[in-house]
Amino acid sequence: MTTASAPGKIILFGEHAVVYGRPAIAAPVSQVRATAVAQPNPDSGVRIIAPDLSADFLLADAAEDDALAVTLRQIETAAKLSQLPDLIITVSSQIPIASGLGSGAAIAAAVIRAVAGQLGLAHLATDEWVSNLTYEVEKIHHGTPSGIDNTVVAYEKPVYFVRRQPTNLIETFAVKRPLRLLVADTGIRSSTKIAVGDVRRHWLANPDQFEVLFDGCGRIAATARTAIEMGDIAHIGRLMTANQRLLEEMTVSSPELERLVMAALQTGALGAKLSGAGRGGNMITLVEDEGMETAVRAALLAAGAKTVLTTTIKT
Ligand code: PMV
Repeated sequence: MTTASAPGKIILFGEHAVVYGRPAIAAPVSQVRATAVAQPNPDSGVRIIAPDLSADFLLADAAEDDALAVTLRQIETAAKLSQLPDLIITVSSQIPIASGLGSGAAIAAAVIRAVAGQLGLAHLATDEWVSNLTYEVEKIHHGTPSGIDNTVVAYEKPVYFVRRQPTNLIETFAVKRPLRLLVADTGIRSSTKIAVGDVRRHWLANPDQFEVLFDGCGRIAATARTAIEMGDIAHIGRLMTANQRLLEEMTVSSPELERLVMAALQTGALGAKLSGAGRGGNMITLVEDEGMETAVRAALLAAGAKTVLTTTIKT
């Protein structure tokens, strides 16, 4: 039996603009995880059990676009197997779905690691392969994924990422002062595919305006990397809020997200923004110390947050 897991993630800077080749920064949220267990199936076939989703089915009967089935077919192809051996794969996740925390990518990454481990396919369990195979699965959730989600959940480190040909730029970097963040959920589920598609339509209709917005996000992400490397917490906070304003102009914010952003800033948080595709899902806010964390958490809950987690980003 082989068990593997992968973390949730947040995008610190540059969501959406990253799809258009601008730099972005993402970090793992290691305390919320997706877990997969792979073990031999005494009966024939590949059986997938996902108790959280009340799902229990055979790969042979799965819908063409089912994310777990696509994940397993990716492994089958990468391993050059005509058919996977008889397995039971059990999947569970603490990461809320459709909320910008990368649950789809984490589930795929955990399944790839568990199945590759169980079948002795060590090369497929490397971070690079897990990331690449997860990217193929992400296409179902995202349409045109930038590649940042699969990268951060597979490498489980903060990454500076630029989508480019022939290979993406993926750099890890030093976090001089740990970043203490609160992650607050609006409770509103939103589709990444729809938000990304809407941004594309706006970009096609107003290319000049959207190129300027994307450039602004890219500059913020590049500046933020230096600020993170130098430990300039106040500057990082200001850059987060500046990124939020550009995301609002891109139409991917929402009244609920903005209520939480405002509550955090009014309580003294150093910066706040939505994280991920937007329109719902989670926002993140940077706090200086435990006292500020307690006050901002209370303000977020009073402003309608359904849950608030704390996470610390370090190298
Ligand atoms: O998976 P989400 O909701 O965190 O969104 C991913 C971030 C986007 O930049 C909006 C899309 C992408 O592929 O990078």
